[in-house]
Amino acid sequence: MCGIVGAIAARPVAGILLEGLRRLEYRGYDSAGMAVLNQGQIGRLRRIGKVQALADACAQQSLPGHLGIAHTRWATHGKPSEQNAHPHMSGERLAVVHNGIIENFEPLKRELEQQGYVFTSETDTEVVAHLLDRELKTGLDLLAALRKTMEFLEGAFALGVIHADQPEQLLTARKGSPLVIGVGIGENFIASDQLALLPVTDRFMFLEDGDIAQLEAERIQVWDAQGQVAERAISTFEHGQGSAEKGEFRHFMLKEIYEQPRVMQAVLEGRIASGHLLEQAFGSDAGAVFDRVKQVQIVACGTSYHAGLVAKYWIEELVGIPCMVEVASEFRYRPVVLPEDTLLLTLSQSGETADTLAALREVKARVLATLAICNVPGSSLVRESDLSLMTNAGPEIGVASTKAFTSQLVALMLTTIALGRRHGLSADKETALVAALEQLPELFQQLLALDGPIEAMSAHFAEKRHALFLGRNVLYPVAMEGALKLKEISYIHAEAYPAGELKHGPLALVDKEMPVIAVAPRNGMLDKLKANLQEVRARGGELFVFAGCEESIQSQEGVHVIHLPALPPVLDPIAFTLPLQLLSYHVAVLKGTDVDQPRNLAKSVTVE
Ligand code: F6R
Repeated sequence: MCGIVGAIAARPVAGILLEGLRRLEYRGYDSAGMAVLNQGQIGRLRRIGKVQALADACAQQSLPGHLGIAHTRWATHGKPSEQNAHPHMSGERLAVVHNGIIENFEPLKRELEQQGYVFTSETDTEVVAHLLDRELKTGLDLLAALRKTMEFLEGAFALGVIHADQPEQLLTARKGSPLVIGVGIGENFIASDQLALLPVTDRFMFLEDGDIAQLEAERIQVWDAQGQVAERAISTFEHGQGSAEKGEFRHFMLKEIYEQPRVMQAVLEGRIASGHLLEQAFGSDAGAVFDRVKQVQIVACGTSYHAGLVAKYWIEELVGIPCMVEVASEFRYRPVVLPEDTLLLTLSQSGETADTLAALREVKARVLATLAICNVPGSSLVRESDLSLMTNAGPEIGVASTKAFTSQLVALMLTTIALGRRHGLSADKETALVAALEQLPELFQQLLALDGPIEAMSAHFAEKRHALFLGRNVLYPVAMEGALKLKEISYIHAEAYPAGELKHGPLALVDKEMPVIAVAPRNGMLDKLKANLQEVRARGGELFVFAGCEESIQSQEGVHVIHLPALPPVLDPIAFTLPLQLLSYHVAVLKGTDVDQPRNLAKSVTVE
């Protein structure tokens, strides 16, 4: 939530900051702002709305200068407005950008007001600017003032700070919110993630919790939470730069859906060979951990949580050990029971989701080991987990998660195989599973050929206000994911039910205004699902069925069927997802919503 970017360079930085903000816009887009130091004065521009509004303002009123900070906001404290937009200043000479939440800002604000500070915004961030100013006035230098200020702050933050009297330094600090330093040649940068800085560098330094860093054009110095000088490794960005661009696609979401054949290849690469899983992909210590695992606890949020629900079916069926799944925001706040030898498995595209991270930290000491399945190397979740498996999906920019989900499913199947080996999964069965996974890139290519018929189907939804998704067994979480996609980007209210629950309540909602979308596999559950679909038809409900094979269900009046290509049943949850993604996408396009940046949402939920 919120994106920050900063730069110190020999060249003007405003363009770099603007491009950084555009790339961070997925993190929040209700207002944006920038502060640049030029000839001893800080120039600041802030605009309500998207980064483009700020870019337009910059075109009218340039902000020359070699040191600057910028921010794109997702409102937490105070409505979206120019006054609440960052950077926030104390006086004319100090500017701050912040991502995170200062939980104790109210008492701090009262104290500062009593000391004569006048607040011009409703944000929690403004206390940081005034605290810094207050500490500077006690005679501390900027670095010491920042260190002192951090002592007062409770909550999570990543900060960028500039001061008119310090034209040679950009200060930054982080605790609980993501921040990377981009290492350039004769110039250095900060940002909420690496993508923001790819046009200017591919070398990054990740700060630890509690770190403060001082960036000069030629030098970076880091101090840890104890104030000791710290060394932080520099790593090179792992994805190709082109993958963060929209290319010929109209939206990032569509591009990311279409990337899935390649993503399926990438998540399998180096993880399977000659019909077997290469267990070392989980890290050299993984084997010893997997030997001891007696149950799995999965924790995640949103789409990642749905991937976890699919894994529960797989782990309990193919491994035969218990698997519990819970949303992180619930899990972290209750006294959970974790039996001996539990593997805590966290799932996250970003690796920075606040609730998932908090859940990990909460129980880390009480589990056998922690495994993160994640898409962002170097993210907090990966760094703080014992084991990790990257999903290698490449940057996901669309707020609605697509390729991240399907790649998580593949990574979860690999985890299932690793655990299954210890619990009676035969070598033959492993080979069959691996052979099925190997079909995924080609299968996804075939699934994309359904785009036309799905686009045609989407016309039935554009005027609807509600939709019901049905699935059974391992496709129930896939139906949940389909409903989430539809609601978040088209704003059509959508719910998913296990089909067997229909007559226990939701059937009351069914009439011709309530389209029902069913994912129909070709396993033993199909006949039961067909009976449920009859119940819907009998009440005038219109059915949209994604079916597993030609013979199973045919289109007829009020029943629209799209058949998927033949596929090994174990791939059902991975394969059935793509058509549902396309359906949501086309409905949203028809409705004219902002597909990549749906209202009220942001990617990477780094606050609670
Ligand atoms: C939905 C979506 C969100 C995320 C959730 C968790 O399309 O993107 O529900 O899945 O915020 O995010 P990560 O996976 O980054 O932890």
